[in-house]
Amino acid sequence: MASPAAVVTGANKGIGLQIVKELCKKFSGTVYLTARSAQRGKAAAESLQKDGLEVEYLNLDVTNVETIKQAAKYLRSEHGGLDILCNNAGVLFYSKTKEDFPKEAEETIATNFFGVLNVCEYLFPLLRPHARVVNITSGVGHLKYIKDDTIKQKLKSDTLTVDELRDIMQQYLKAVRQGDYEEKGFTGYPDMYGAYPMSKIGVTALTRIQQRMFDQERPGDDIIVNAVCPGYVATDMTQHKGVLTVMQGADTPVYAATLPPVSGDAAPSELPRGQFIINRKVRKFPGS
Ligand SMILES: NC(=O)c1ccc[n+]([C@@H]2O[C@H](COP(=O)([O-])OP(=O)(O)OC[C@H]3O[C@@H](n4cnc5c(N)ncnc54)[C@H](OP(=O)(O)O)[C@@H]3O)[C@@H](O)[C@H]2O)c1
Repeated sequence: MASPAAVVTGANKGIGLQIVKELCKKFSGTVYLTARSAQRGKAAAESLQKDGLEVEYLNLDVTNVETIKQAAKYLRSEHGGLDILCNNAGVLFYSKTKEDFPKEAEETIATNFFGVLNVCEYLFPLLRPHARVVNITSGVGHLKYIKDDTIKQKLKSDTLTVDELRDIMQQYLKAVRQGDYEEKGFTGYPDMYGAYPMSKIGVTALTRIQQRMFDQERPGDDIIVNAVCPGYVATDMTQHKGVLTVMQGADTPVYAATLPPVSGDAAPSELPRGQFIINRKVRKFPGS
């Protein structure tokens, strides 16, 4: 059955939960609140249902490929495809000691970068024409954190491939494990955000590649992918120090998730495609 469907990852709280709420109002189809914890995910979905919103819970841990495959199978059988994908799940550790850094870096890159790749691998084949993909990134993912000019040039290159990007992220993790990340041209510690900037640099770079791939492999299908920074939002992630409310933080992600379909003679260039967006405005890749 070809009924419309939207998926938001890491949606049991914070910005993701607010994106789900807004999509329930703006998108005419089933909105899936997905979460890694069944308990937290179901509780969040039930609280929205009590408020009269039509939302469904689906288990999805972005670091657990089995849960993604199950979700993909379910979406295919229930909806025959997917119309909105919002890659929102993320973690941030405020590294306190150098000893904790390698473990935290592994988890940060596994969730924030490889998690997006995992989800896209299994959910992209479901995307229907006019689908919208939003990769939640951050302005903190700034190229100033890359000291090696060759790596920096690669990351902002228009010919970067997914394999090359995956390789750079692996190189980074290897350097963190070995403790020679500075000599290898990366930073990340003692910066207060640990591996988080590197993970979001990866998400922004990946978005540009993904748009290029859709344009080459499915020309005319009007599939749009953007990397959206929600701004500095008061959530658990920011220890509620952010200056924006979750409603303000969800505004640009929802705008990007509901970009109107482009068909016929309309100029596709009017809409952001494969861009870094903040406050509904296209900005260059931070630091490029
Ligand atoms: N807040 C900001 O100022 C800000 C700024 C720029 C970008 N962002 C980005 O916005 C997104 C949402 O952040 P937030 O501020 O709303 O943070 P948050 O309140 O901490 O929410 C993060 C969400 O991600 C989920 N998550 C973590 N690991 C996961 C996994 N392996 N699989 C599935 N879900 C997982 C968490 O689930 P649990 O409850 O199970 O942990 C939670 O639902 C993140 O990508 C973040 O990097 C936030």
